[in-house]
Amino acid sequence: MTAPTRTRTSADLIRAEEPVLAHNYHPLPVVVARAEGAWVEDVEGRRYLDLLAGYSALNFGHRHPALIEAAHAQLDRLTLTSRAFHNDRLASFAERLVELVGQDMMLPMNTGAEAVESGVKLARKWAYDVKGVPADRATIVVAADNFHGRTTTIVGFSTDESARAGFGPFTPGFRIVPYNDLAALEAAVDETTAAVLIEPIQGEAGVLIPDDGYLTGVRELTSRAGCLFVADEIQSGLGRTGRTLAVDHEDVVPDLVLLGKALGGGIVPVSAVVGRREVLGVLRPGEHGSTFGGNPLAAAVGCAVLDLLETGEFQLRATELGAVLREGLTDLVGRGVVGFRSRGLWAGVDIDPALGTGRDISERLMRAGILVKDTHGSTIRIAPPLTITEEELRGALASLEKVLTETAAG
Ligand SMILES: Cc1ncc(COP(=O)(O)O)c(C=O)c1O
Repeated sequence: MTAPTRTRTSADLIRAEEPVLAHNYHPLPVVVARAEGAWVEDVEGRRYLDLLAGYSALNFGHRHPALIEAAHAQLDRLTLTSRAFHNDRLASFAERLVELVGQDMMLPMNTGAEAVESGVKLARKWAYDVKGVPADRATIVVAADNFHGRTTTIVGFSTDESARAGFGPFTPGFRIVPYNDLAALEAAVDETTAAVLIEPIQGEAGVLIPDDGYLTGVRELTSRAGCLFVADEIQSGLGRTGRTLAVDHEDVVPDLVLLGKALGGGIVPVSAVVGRREVLGVLRPGEHGSTFGGNPLAAAVGCAVLDLLETGEFQLRATELGAVLREGLTDLVGRGVVGFRSRGLWAGVDIDPALGTGRDISERLMRAGILVKDTHGSTIRIAPPLTITEEELRGALASLEKVLTETAAG
């Protein structure tokens, strides 16, 4: 008989997953049982500072009291209607979200990948109905090293072989150009182009920040070419970089903005396409949908997230603590760190490959009570909850320094 969960140790639980869970992840060997703010606790009661924050889904920390309260209150009233009926929560969520990001309309979905799929469908439909592209000829230009999710259409335009290999055949109609290269983008755009779809900062690729002016250039180029600019802000958006959206750093307004992760406050999956009426207005009843999209629990939590973002406090924290992070990482360059890129409270840190892979360093940091995630090669990414205190952040930087020094000493 299976032992009751409460008597199982972390090692037991990791072993128990092996035969029954698909191996599509390679988690760090930590089994989280409780969490609050920037801290998580494992089954044995060991505490760790969470510097991944659910890939930015936990921008407001674990179990932010206002978000938990909103979720509890909604759980006691109404959780799901489907869009076959209206619910009394969705209108305010939509009104406030479009207001926050300066757009006209929104389409509620659940996961990030669904928001991206929805953006692709909207761009194509707009191209046929409004731009006049001949049927089934629409193209979408994307960037190399992108990460937009895991559906078959999305991995079809990934340049990461481990994401693609074995999953074809793929959806046609995508053109891939180098990121941060306006000339290549210009050359790829033609009369069939429905949209240019990019991440304003490429998170999964290692927090790659394009040159100043790139996003402005994409906006100008797409406007001139008569195609849409679709910004995937699923990871970069909602306070992470110090502004509500990463495109705000260049005062650029895309035609469609894709949001997810933090929109659900780390409680429920909530995503959305937010954009211009001319684009979102192309959808008619029956052409797109999702059973859970726009459900009242998601809308109530989403509204509580908007309460937090509307204060501007979290954007400010990301800016101020981002300066502390940048200063701490600058100090480590040449001492185990070969380089880093950061904006707001978000950094991709290239560890000296001589010290090991990103995974090796992540495991060592875990043993020192710090949770991070590696990306490619020897790069780790740091994206703490925006609620982390300066003291906690400085403590994490001190632990990183200690781990790098000890690793170098062998
Ligand atoms: C930029 C970006 N887009 C889309 C996604 C996919 O989101 P989800 O995992 O919720 O489908 C991610 C996830 O990491 C992401 O970083």
